Amino acid sequence: METDKELMNNVKVTWRCPSNIAIVKYWGKKGIQIPCNSSLSLTLSNSFTEVEAQLSDKTTDEAVQLSYFFEGAVNEKFGQRVAKFLEDNREFFPFIAEKAITINSSNSFPHSAGIASSASAFGAISLALLDISYSMEGKEKDEAFYREASNLARLGSGSASRSMYPAFAQWGENDKIQHSSNQYAIEITDIHPTFRNMKDAILIIEDEPKKVSSSVGHSLMNNHPYAENRFKQANERTAELVNILKTGDMEAFIHMCESEALTLHAMMMTSMDYYLLVKPGTITAIEKLMEFRKENNIPVCFTLDAGPNVHVLYPKAYEKQVEAFINNGLRDTYKKVIFDQEGNGPTKLNS
Ligand code: DP6
Repeated sequence: METDKELMNNVKVTWRCPSNIAIVKYWGKKGIQIPCNSSLSLTLSNSFTEVEAQLSDKTTDEAVQLSYFFEGAVNEKFGQRVAKFLEDNREFFPFIAEKAITINSSNSFPHSAGIASSASAFGAISLALLDISYSMEGKEKDEAFYREASNLARLGSGSASRSMYPAFAQWGENDKIQHSSNQYAIEITDIHPTFRNMKDAILIIEDEPKKVSSSVGHSLMNNHPYAENRFKQANERTAELVNILKTGDMEAFIHMCESEALTLHAMMMTSMDYYLLVKPGTITAIEKLMEFRKENNIPVCFTLDAGPNVHVLYPKAYEKQVEAFINNGLRDTYKKVIFDQEGNGPTKLNS
């Protein structure tokens, strides 16, 4: 019979967690990863991180002994961020005082795609390590498990909180949304068939690391001249979007989605330390897309994250026309394209 200690050494779990794209954007935070406004996103499917976490006996007296590998090689920089995350949140991990942790992480999307991977990475890390804690405590992995994983993921990267659920997820306290919380995201389940099976083609306009990180971007909202109005607008829009998703109002969705993307970048451009992340290709793609929508009367729209890449959103029913347009009409604007779609949330890959 294996002793408890040996059992703990054999623990190895693997989780896959998808990325997500925000429709209403989280931009600005306070305290310990508390968002200044609520946000709502679409969970993706093909863009994900896989994390294998394994425990072994400690060989040093560090408070947290972590070996972090990204795609087979030691990743010093992200490893340090993860080690700090583990140390700051050690109450979630009762094994951390005694055990060394090895994490092997990999992304489904190319390293240089310019896709922000912190949401899927912190999502998968949180799920894997919380899974180990739950198993040791003999706790069932029910709804509360995902809520706690969302809370933990938020502490690593705010947008990661929303990757725990299928399709549409909302994060941040909002008077008009029942059960909404600053601590964790919730699933938005009342979705009109119009918004089921949404597709997201990610046009990689530039694949260099961005000049200004999201953390710096968030901090620039602290003394931003338009901050208060922006936070108010985003809260109102989140509640409005819940209703749009319920009623199937595609026109309102398109308008809100595009306005959110441009407002996010307007916040960057109007910060005291102003900066610009869009590139010529971003603007050309947006203009061509708007023209295509007008001429063909097809419900397709764009959004942006904190970078130059363009996310093209459209219902699956229109994939033929939109994808032909992306492959031909937009071809000069991007380096590569990743075709993604609404996903079902995280999955555990071994038992
Ligand atoms: C523009 O979640 O990357 O993508 O909490 O500092 O890790 P941290 O920030 P992060 O910010 C995401 C910003 C955004 C909008 C969004 O996803 O809501």
